[in-house]
Amino acid sequence: MMRPWWHAAAIYQVYPRSFRDGNGDGLGDLRGVEEKLPYLKALGIDAIWLSPFYPSPQHDSGYDVADPRDVDPMYGTLADAQAMIDSAHAAGIKVIVDVVPNHASVEHRWFREALVSAPGSAARARFHFRDGRGDNGEQPPTNWMSMFGGSAWTRITEPDGSPGQWYLHIFDSSQPDFNWSNPEVRDDWLTTLTFWLDRGVDGFRVDVALGLAKDMTYPEIENPEGLVQALRLDLDNDSDEVKAMRAKVTNSAIFDRDELQEIYRGWREVMNRYPGDRMAVAEAWVTPERAAMYVGGDTLHQIFNFEFLSIPFDASRICAVVQRTLEELAVVKAPATWALSNHDTPRVVSRLVAPGFDEESARTAARSLALIGHCLPGSIYVYQGEELGLADAPIPDAARQDPVWFRTNGEQLGRDAARVPLPWSGTIPPYGFSDSSDVTTWLPQPDGWAEFTAIAEAGDPHSTLAQYREMLRLRHELPAFADLENTAIEQVMPGVVRVTRGSDFTCLVNCTNQHIRVAASGRMLVASHADVTADGGSLTLPPAAGAWLLS
Ligand code: GLC
Repeated sequence: MMRPWWHAAAIYQVYPRSFRDGNGDGLGDLRGVEEKLPYLKALGIDAIWLSPFYPSPQHDSGYDVADPRDVDPMYGTLADAQAMIDSAHAAGIKVIVDVVPNHASVEHRWFREALVSAPGSAARARFHFRDGRGDNGEQPPTNWMSMFGGSAWTRITEPDGSPGQWYLHIFDSSQPDFNWSNPEVRDDWLTTLTFWLDRGVDGFRVDVALGLAKDMTYPEIENPEGLVQALRLDLDNDSDEVKAMRAKVTNSAIFDRDELQEIYRGWREVMNRYPGDRMAVAEAWVTPERAAMYVGGDTLHQIFNFEFLSIPFDASRICAVVQRTLEELAVVKAPATWALSNHDTPRVVSRLVAPGFDEESARTAARSLALIGHCLPGSIYVYQGEELGLADAPIPDAARQDPVWFRTNGEQLGRDAARVPLPWSGTIPPYGFSDSSDVTTWLPQPDGWAEFTAIAEAGDPHSTLAQYREMLRLRHELPAFADLENTAIEQVMPGVVRVTRGSDFTCLVNCTNQHIRVAASGRMLVASHADVTADGGSLTLPPAAGAWLLS
């Protein structure tokens, strides 16, 4: 039997507002996605995952959804979405859409209805409304904190003008959390899933998949700030302090609760009714031990691997995380996922910049991490622009848009730097992102991106784009990649990672800052730096560089 496509797919994350502007208004849209399908096909990906394009007041770049079964006019129409899905399928590309079941937007019709309904009404019961504490209900019901900073509760004004109840929002105040113990909420989400499945989508990326179930009887959280921080901590950090904090996330009032399993079983049942191996990938920042609840036989299909996504360029950590991921998931029987960045993290190049390790070195290291990620069994996720080797862009404070920046009063810069519109061609902004040259893009593009445009890199055999195209082509062609249980990873000498697949494929990556020569036989297939050379019996690797070999 053929294995399902998502067991070993290359999935490209499209962040629609920054991918390609098809109508000249400075914002990316669905027409822009459709227009660039040939580029994605040539890149060699199997599927695209689109961040939300639903109607939204855009307080959190579309992750505040007013109607999950429609398209925001800024991105196009439902007909445009259908055309994009159909064209992708015609090109042999699967389509994954992002669903945001933890919360709505304040503009969702249900939330508007809740605001004008009485406390205790059915309309309020679709969200988490509570009376405040204190003599006049002037204090939030609990001490829970928002992931974006500040209290997780906001007080409303009742229809009669008096100060009223509070509603829960684990993210921005514009994102009220749904009450998942309410059957109406559960049913409505099944309707949303079938709505998109009927339109042919091949899968879902489940936003904040660890958050839906809540225990609303919890009065207080012992260390609310710590809980929120623990989720953002380096999952590969084994210190006792971090482990203790993380242990508190599991079955806490708001995260990673056992009841989620039942919710996702219901989702799986719906997906199983459709032909063509529909799938769902969970965004859940949990330890590998907890991953089993989200994926496996009767729940979702994949879970993001946040340990790998935050990995330092360190040979022993890379070997440990890859090893652990493969072992844990083998138990659950879910294929692994690998990603180097997404729209919530710094771009991998910028993440790896360190004292004495400038952006150019970091770019080589990022490309070497890609050599590792792309040769591992499972699915590889590529965040748009990663294939161009983009770094984070400088954003003037006045141009920032992320609610994280506003809710932390500028203490955290937020995620805008990794979300800047892509450079496609030309030498000055908008670099072909938009056809009209006097457009103002929603985030400013930097000077100096001329060498990183898709067109410029397509003409350079040593570019990041050339490396990605070659890796993705080989992923589909090398027989060694067909077997998902033939991987070994180790440090072949201090600071040098070696991954093998079967008996003929080798990936070598130099995580040191020295030139090294390492014994390796075979033909070099692709490298992360122009100066890598193979001379039959050995491979010479500049600092941070690596290569794939076939013997
Ligand atoms: C997820 C999304 C992020 C969003 C948050 C709230 O973490 O990836 O972009 O801000 O959920 O929806």
